[in-house]
Amino acid sequence: MARDATLRAATSAAVGIDDVAVRFRTKNRDVTALRDVSLDVAMGEFVAIVGPSGCGKSTLLKLVAGLLKPSSGQVRLRDEQVKGPRHDIGYVFQRAALLEWRSARRNILLQAEMRRMPAARARERAAELIAMTGLGGFEDAYPHELSGGMQQRVALCRALLHEPPVLLMDEPFGALDALTREQMNMELNRIWRETGTTVLLVTHSISEAVYLADRVVVMSPRPGTITEIVEVGMGAERDYAQTMGRPEFRDATTHVRGLLGTAAAGD
Ligand SMILES: Nc1ncnc2c1ncn2[C@@H]1O[C@H](COP(=O)(O)OP(=O)(O)OP(=O)(O)O)[C@@H](O)[C@H]1O
Ligand SMILES: [Mg+2]
Repeated sequence: MARDATLRAATSAAVGIDDVAVRFRTKNRDVTALRDVSLDVAMGEFVAIVGPSGCGKSTLLKLVAGLLKPSSGQVRLRDEQVKGPRHDIGYVFQRAALLEWRSARRNILLQAEMRRMPAARARERAAELIAMTGLGGFEDAYPHELSGGMQQRVALCRALLHEPPVLLMDEPFGALDALTREQMNMELNRIWRETGTTVLLVTHSISEAVYLADRVVVMSPRPGTITEIVEVGMGAERDYAQTMGRPEFRDATTHVRGLLGTAAAGD
């Protein structure tokens, strides 16, 4: 027990980004995608990232996943420097990216096969996630038989199958209609509370960011820097309709919108 407690204390930061810059050198141009970016995300925290197109949001997630190396600075995942692709994360992309020839369940289980998880445990966890995301009855359906929202739920289950302590989401609901998106927002809020996972979510929707997050990171146009980190100041449990009417929600969305407007004007 004492060892557990020590370990927990030692890994209190889920993600640490220290003074990071990313420069891309291609044949025709040099692009500074990120500059002077520092951010600490606590275990179990939900952080949303908003900013204009091309400001380096996806680049930031790739750094945390170890898919990209910073040009300078350092990235830590659970207090360990990120040196290559990390397996203790879940990644949800803008498009569900499901395999058309596999059923919903077998798309979810793909994660287990890639990680060589024990099959019984993987099946049990898949069943839990299918129930949690309301996919019950559609386990054997193929992607083309599922709605866009359901496909995104399958992708979410796949990202959560191995119980990653950190979940990275890059505009996961961008392709959904407004109503489905609301539903997915409510579901994500519940899943986040139930699993206790740390979430980094990139989104273009200010209301989605504020509804879901503990803090909203607002970025400037390229080269991406952090303009401000806005504390949302609402508890974790958030009824959708009620939250939209709360003064904290209105204040935070107005503030973030103002910051993005100012940033855009300076472009
Ligand atoms: N592999 C790469 N090689 C060269 N340049 C790149 C590479 N990846 C990204 N960039 C450049 O870095 C900048 C940031 O890209 P990034 O994809 O992180 O932006 P973003 O904030 O996610 O934008 P969007 O909101 O449109 O998805 C862009 O100017 C892009 O052209
Ligand atoms: Mg992007």
